[in-house]
Amino acid sequence: TFIVTDNCVKCKYTDCVEVCPVDCFYEGPNFLVIDPDECIDCALCEPECPANAIFSEDELPADQVQYVEINAELCQTWPNITEQKDPLPDAAEWDGVENKLQYLER
Ligand code: SF4
Ligand code: F3S
Repeated sequence: TFIVTDNCVKCKYTDCVEVCPVDCFYEGPNFLVIDPDECIDCALCEPECPANAIFSEDELPADQVQYVEINAELCQTWPNITEQKDPLPDAAEWDGVENKLQYLER
């Protein structure tokens, strides 16, 4: 499966959802997650993210492993998103800021 990681928080560019052939992205207030049971590992979303926030679970950086559980958990309750929308207003300022998990709104 593919995992949405820390740099999506407070950016939420949403380019990723447009290319997913199985529509397995789910949207929270300031973050997106992938349903690991629906993702077919096509890898199309990974290069689409302007924030480079999407990784294959096999290539997940060590400091992002907590996001495996976060994606699996939050996709159960958040609504599906299939169409791109505007990024969050301060996306450019937050892009690249480290350790944004503390700001993740559930
Ligand atoms: Fe969707 Fe493919 Fe990305 Fe999985 S890897 S979330 S199926 S676009
Ligand atoms: Fe997030 Fe990147 Fe998608 S910032 S919403 S994973 S395009």
